[in-house]
Amino acid sequence: MKVLVFGDVVGRPGRRALKEFLPKVREELSPDLILCNGENSAGGFGITLKVYEELKGMGIDVITSGNHIWDKREVFNFIESKRHLLRPLNYPEGVPGRGFIILERKGIRVCILNLMGRVFMSPHLENPFTTFDKFYQEYKREFDLLIVDFHGEATSEKLAFALYCDGRTNLIYGSHTHIPTADETILPKGTAYVTDVGMVGPFPSVIGMREREPVEIFLRGIPKRFEVAKGKVMINALFVEFEGGKVKEIKRIKEFW
Ligand SMILES: [Fe+2]
Ligand SMILES: [Fe+2]
Repeated sequence: MKVLVFGDVVGRPGRRALKEFLPKVREELSPDLILCNGENSAGGFGITLKVYEELKGMGIDVITSGNHIWDKREVFNFIESKRHLLRPLNYPEGVPGRGFIILERKGIRVCILNLMGRVFMSPHLENPFTTFDKFYQEYKREFDLLIVDFHGEATSEKLAFALYCDGRTNLIYGSHTHIPTADETILPKGTAYVTDVGMVGPFPSVIGMREREPVEIFLRGIPKRFEVAKGKVMINALFVEFEGGKVKEIKRIKEFW
């Protein structure tokens, strides 16, 4: 079972690069499952139905998300009906959408779970650790392989979560910071892990955004509307191969497109 994960896809440049890159990487690695985080896929903020369909059309199996999932209001019209679009499971009860999906690939039941950290993020979320415990207790008999997108800001929270869930999950990867970390590893109890996959988005930029406005904010503190940067795209991804539930290979991918 080969899994290919892309982090946050930023705007049109990110989508275009992803579309062009996918046939090449498919030929090289023949992934059975392709995931990406789509919270910034429409104009850098949120996701629209059109963009969701575009990502699905490229062959992305499941689109995870995070805090920016609600930025395009139309998401409320379709998130309930699109099973392959996830929002963090630890939003309070009653929030639309779902936090996990179970798919079958090569006779293996694969669960993809989306969670979000709370450190430097929304205080309105349920505790991701206890949310995981509850989820795991309830659903562990329904899947063979468990993959978690932990959308979070703090590296400490992501690492603590990964070690807390080591052995109960097969892969935990971080998203949200748009910056890849170089710590891909297999944890002591067998879970493949990386703190952040990094974005598929224009670079140089400030996490995918043109630098003018962020620099202005840092200089003067006056809020500005961000624009997706132009130019080359940095494609960050993670490839993990499992054999009999065990991690056979984990490798980071970084390319400029
Ligand atoms: Fe993001
Ligand atoms: Fe985010």
